[in-house]
Amino acid sequence: MKTVVITGSARGLGYNMARFFREYNYNVVISDLKEENLVRAKEELEKTKSEGNIAYKICDVSKLIQIQELMEFALETFENVDIWINNAGVNQPQKAIWELTESEINTIIDVDLKGTIYGSKVAMEEMSKRGGGAIYNIEGYGSNDAHMLGLNMYGTSKRAVTHFTEGLAQEAEQKNTGVIVGKLSPGIMITDFTTHSLGNDLISLSDKTKKVYNILGDTPETVGKFLVDNMVKNTKNNVKINWLTNRKAFVRFLTAGFNKRDFFGK
Ligand SMILES: NC(=O)c1ccc[n+]([C@@H]2O[C@H](COP(=O)([O-])OP(=O)(O)OC[C@H]3O[C@@H](n4cnc5c(N)ncnc54)[C@H](O)[C@@H]3O)[C@@H](O)[C@H]2O)c1
Repeated sequence: MKTVVITGSARGLGYNMARFFREYNYNVVISDLKEENLVRAKEELEKTKSEGNIAYKICDVSKLIQIQELMEFALETFENVDIWINNAGVNQPQKAIWELTESEINTIIDVDLKGTIYGSKVAMEEMSKRGGGAIYNIEGYGSNDAHMLGLNMYGTSKRAVTHFTEGLAQEAEQKNTGVIVGKLSPGIMITDFTTHSLGNDLISLSDKTKKVYNILGDTPETVGKFLVDNMVKNTKNNVKINWLTNRKAFVRFLTAGFNKRDFFGK
């Protein structure tokens, strides 16, 4: 039986990817910051019929040692790790870069960028020893070099995640690791991430932003299913599994007049 490890998976996209991997009968290791959220997520995930098992472990991705412990836990529990997804992420407060505090800057870089680097390092060390496996990192606003007031620090991290992941895919090939590396691009999902910065503080979304999110946004269930369906069949290195393609976005704007999605309530 195959095993997937997903960071930041007590809710949102990570949780939903775990759910759909269960439909493919994978063993699933979920991990996040708080035990009570993981217990709740595990109970919910158990409702999805699967031949795979679920285990959880607390892991703060900004600490290399905790990621190493997560890998050890997954190997002790399920013997092998086939797919590792660096999903944990935080949004930033809607401020210009110079208005952010040192602690806010550090959290964004530590979780969004360094968490992905640490996770990739640990996964690659183990998978290259075994000669196989897949590592996926999550892109986000800024990955394509877009800029927006209030998203520059997050965008800096995600732009770097994209560069890093492409470099990792090249290195994996050059060193004949047998491991494949890919990017997951989830578009816009209405989750706690969209409405909260740094995991806690409410973001007040303007009517204009809500309108755009209603046109381009989707639930993490929809996106999670798409990403998992593509990951389980992917055998290629350096892929980008992209939900919100330019074409899809164009059609969404073109048909916006008929759009009934309302994520925020009137
Ligand atoms: N929501 C969107 O529109 C969107 C768009 C593009 C990319 N993304 C990316 O998708 C990923 C998942 O986002 P989401 O929308 O599901 O957000 P979410 O806030 O619903 O889930 C993120 C999870 O990460 C966890 N987390 C935060 N800090 C952590 C840490 N230090 N260690 C471990 N876990 C930590 C949170 O507790 C939470 O469970 C993130 O990488 C995000 O940047 C989101």
